[in-house]
Amino acid sequence: MPAKVRKAVFPAAGFGTRFLPATKSIPKEMLALVDKPLIQYGVEEALAAGCDQIIVVTARDKAAIEDHFDTSYELEAMLERRGKTDLLALVRQVSCMTQLATIRQKEAMGLGHAVLMARELVGDEPFAVILPDDVIDAPTPCLKQMVDIFDQVHSSILATQVVEGPAISAYGVLDGAHVPSNPRLFDVTGLVEKPRPAEAPSKNAIIGRYILTPKVFDLLEHTPLGAGGELQLTDGIKGLLQTEKVYGYSFEGTRHDAGDKFGMLKATVEFALKRDDLGPAFREYLKSLKL
Ligand code: G1P
Repeated sequence: MPAKVRKAVFPAAGFGTRFLPATKSIPKEMLALVDKPLIQYGVEEALAAGCDQIIVVTARDKAAIEDHFDTSYELEAMLERRGKTDLLALVRQVSCMTQLATIRQKEAMGLGHAVLMARELVGDEPFAVILPDDVIDAPTPCLKQMVDIFDQVHSSILATQVVEGPAISAYGVLDGAHVPSNPRLFDVTGLVEKPRPAEAPSKNAIIGRYILTPKVFDLLEHTPLGAGGELQLTDGIKGLLQTEKVYGYSFEGTRHDAGDKFGMLKATVEFALKRDDLGPAFREYLKSLKL
């Protein structure tokens, strides 16, 4: 098995119901956080972590994702004609970023099923999974932090964060103990997808970054449908615990749930404030609001 994590899988086949009506005809992965679609944040993170193969699990009506990373001759020609060199460079940077491989998930059968769709493209090697609506703002990109740990432990790693109160029921939740040598690592002993608050084994929620060993594909093939009547990735990973170590990793950084309206609003404010071109004026504007 190659030791390096080279491939990153992006499940992007969902309906985006939390963001209707915007997502009626626009893939939620293409919603803009300030001026960049959510999936571009994830792709940049994967590339920064050393992945060089981006696999997107898509569905009908998701062509905008492929178009975004493709060359746009008409747009480029127009920008060139008009001498808009900055914008031309911006557009070319996106199309040169990566060559996407895509595969369609024909039925919405859950995150585990979406990841299973990527089996042939991933093959027999460890791989990353990035859920594009979890945008993580971090000094070192979250997946890069995880790859650095993977290079030491060579086992599956799940990003995790503490979630307080009943909100924990919206997540996969892990059970486990801190690894003494690294306070950010958990030795995972159990996993539950979307538990009732009283049944959550801890406050440690799974956030949308995973590094998984390919064994998970065999397990997903035989995992029964779980929470919500869907094939859950969490349940497949739980199967790994029988034969392999699985770690939780409490990453350094801020996670934004940009697939949710309120989460997107908060992310927009925070990202805009950090921008050199927008931040100062936006800050003044926010201060002027009589709240
Ligand atoms: C998915 C996973 C869940 C994880 C969450 C993180 O849930 O199934 O385990 O905690 O992403 O965002 P979803 O948000 O797709 O319901």
